[in-house]
Amino acid sequence: MPIQSTPNIWFNGFLIPWEKAQIHIMSHVVHYGSSVFEGIRCYTQPNGAGIFRLGEHMQRLLDSAKIYRMPLPYTLEQLNSAVVDLVEANGVAPCYIRPIAIRGYGEIGVTPKGCPIDIYVANFPWGKYVAGDNGADVCVSSWNRLAPNTMPSLAKAGANYMNSQLIRMEADVNGYVEGIALDVNGYLSEGSGENLFIVRNGTIYTTPLANSVLSGITRDSVLTLARHMGMTVVEQALPREMLYIADEVFFTGTAAEVTHIRSVDRILVGKDGTIGPITKQLADEFFAIVNGLKPDRFNWLTPVKVRVEQPVGA
Ligand SMILES: Cc1ncc(COP(=O)(O)O)c(C=O)c1O
Repeated sequence: MPIQSTPNIWFNGFLIPWEKAQIHIMSHVVHYGSSVFEGIRCYTQPNGAGIFRLGEHMQRLLDSAKIYRMPLPYTLEQLNSAVVDLVEANGVAPCYIRPIAIRGYGEIGVTPKGCPIDIYVANFPWGKYVAGDNGADVCVSSWNRLAPNTMPSLAKAGANYMNSQLIRMEADVNGYVEGIALDVNGYLSEGSGENLFIVRNGTIYTTPLANSVLSGITRDSVLTLARHMGMTVVEQALPREMLYIADEVFFTGTAAEVTHIRSVDRILVGKDGTIGPITKQLADEFFAIVNGLKPDRFNWLTPVKVRVEQPVGA
């Protein structure tokens, strides 16, 4: 889907016009992938709009930057305010928000010494990410996720998404909407941009952080909901074949939200690939909270004052 521009982008403390947010070809990030970023959704509710788990996302941005020795010259509170200011200035909700910190234009060479750290935040309308209203048909990728102690999976770094692109492109070429990658030891890891959940005999399983996954904020939200709803949740290493004998499989992610998986490698999930009761309960609860149909009992939504209510393009 083409990006729909909005009037402003936040850049190092100021709002600048969308078309002015440009970088030089010799910026460090272009050559060496040196960026860390976030993806956040702002939802509309009957009485306004709210950004989903803003503080957790911006803390993850700070954490990603810390791993890569990129000191960001803003506090968590300042970064949160930057996002709120931008969303309110652009007046577009629901929307997707993309904060990104990059190593900019300065010196040449892998060592980023002498290159400035620039921070941008953009927001724009964005709809459904993993296609398939009746569930997603996915495959197990021939590509592994990042090996431990190579590219840190807990950092949401631009460079990690070269691996995600390989997974996603391979899936696409072979007629699937998404790929699930294994880690280097052959255990289940995650999708190219989603965390993975499996339900079997009433227990909910998800892959632990040590299996090369991103510490997903939707993952954490679904784990929280499941525990509060009295469901049994286990975070453990999972073999690939659990996918084929699962009762239910689903993805979580800011873009994918809660997406039920219909088939894996053309094997229908459960009896007939339809959404299972646990996935449905969790998805319904998640959407009820973010859409303001149920109270925000975990304080997940940061209210924003937006005058314009624009629907997200499909
Ligand atoms: C590789 C990867 N795993 C998992 C996720 C899900 O994380 P979150 O729920 O924080 O969006 C994402 C999306 O950000 C991702 O890119």
